Amino acid sequence: MNTIKPLDHITHTKSYVPGGKLHGATGPVAMLASNENPFGPSPLAVEAIRKAAGEGLQVYPDPDYTALREAIAKAKGIADASRVVTSAGSDEIIHLLTQCYAGPGDEVLFTEHAFSMYEVSARAHGAAAIKAPETDMTAGVNSILGAVSPKTRILFLANPNNPTGTMLSLDALKSLQDVLPPHVLFVVDGAYSEYLGPDYEAALRDLVDRRDTTVMMRTFSKIYGLAALRLGWAYMPKAIADTYQRIRGPFNVNTLAVEAGIASVGDDAFLTLSRDHNTAWRGTMTDALNAMGLPTAPSHANFVVCEFGAAERAAAAHQYLKDQSILVRAIAGYGLPTKLRITIGSAEDNTRCLEALKAFTASR
Ligand SMILES: Cc1ncc(COP(=O)(O)O)c(C=O)c1O
Repeated sequence: MNTIKPLDHITHTKSYVPGGKLHGATGPVAMLASNENPFGPSPLAVEAIRKAAGEGLQVYPDPDYTALREAIAKAKGIADASRVVTSAGSDEIIHLLTQCYAGPGDEVLFTEHAFSMYEVSARAHGAAAIKAPETDMTAGVNSILGAVSPKTRILFLANPNNPTGTMLSLDALKSLQDVLPPHVLFVVDGAYSEYLGPDYEAALRDLVDRRDTTVMMRTFSKIYGLAALRLGWAYMPKAIADTYQRIRGPFNVNTLAVEAGIASVGDDAFLTLSRDHNTAWRGTMTDALNAMGLPTAPSHANFVVCEFGAAERAAAAHQYLKDQSILVRAIAGYGLPTKLRITIGSAEDNTRCLEALKAFTASR
């Protein structure tokens, strides 16, 4: 028996369960489980990666990531690039903020069906994970406020949320921000914000400027199609950015991610193409699923969640699709066992998925 014991709270931390992969499949595979962009990255990112791969990978990146932070600030209308921080995927921001602000005896708050890394991170740092109940898979300001206590250190809120796709209005976010006690760091996770368009992105940015206790975190893994490179960023009040920088690994973002991020962050044509495809297909998928008797929640992101009426039926549909090399996301681990989450993929993959589900619902 190993005599080296992890800390108790690490032993009690359950790992994140990813969307998974299909191994050994023959023929076309439809990966609709992890909310990735079916177009891949912007061509400008691919060109920048090729160029960077050919020159200087033996050299460490710039530890200040100045060029990347300035490119993000410019593209997103942020006046002070020193308040932009970067990360190896936005998961790292969740971890580092939790490490900075919450520990044993503290509480980290999120909503009932929130992105599960919030819970993983809270537990991994010894803090209690507190869930505010949702109504119809949607967070509510009063419910969140009711769960705040003197021990609450951080509130994580993804808007739109994963895995539900639902969101709070901007007015609701502002009223939450207005009444949240000043000891709570409010982290708005905008992982899917680009799917609502630049005005919404700007509105989230402006939330950070309304209070010195609000952070907006973002990712290059979704609409930017760079999940494999692991690149995230956040816009923060100065004091919080300085705290974050103190414990961040000096070279946490790799050079290929840096160059791809710089090249693609301002590629508005690519963002528009991806967003328009998503909006159109999200409507098509929603209508088709509803017509099959699979009700959907209103989604504002790049996926839809549909209801199968029973956990066994949802699990059977998941397996039925998997047998045809179509991978969607089971969300029983999120407390939603009767539902499946389906990423909006390419036209071909979406069509295959809908046809398979039509056959499934006709027989079961
Ligand atoms: C709401 C939300 N936040 C953060 C992340 C983490 O993304 P990444 O670490 O790839 O930047 C995800 C990924 O699915 C997400 O859905």
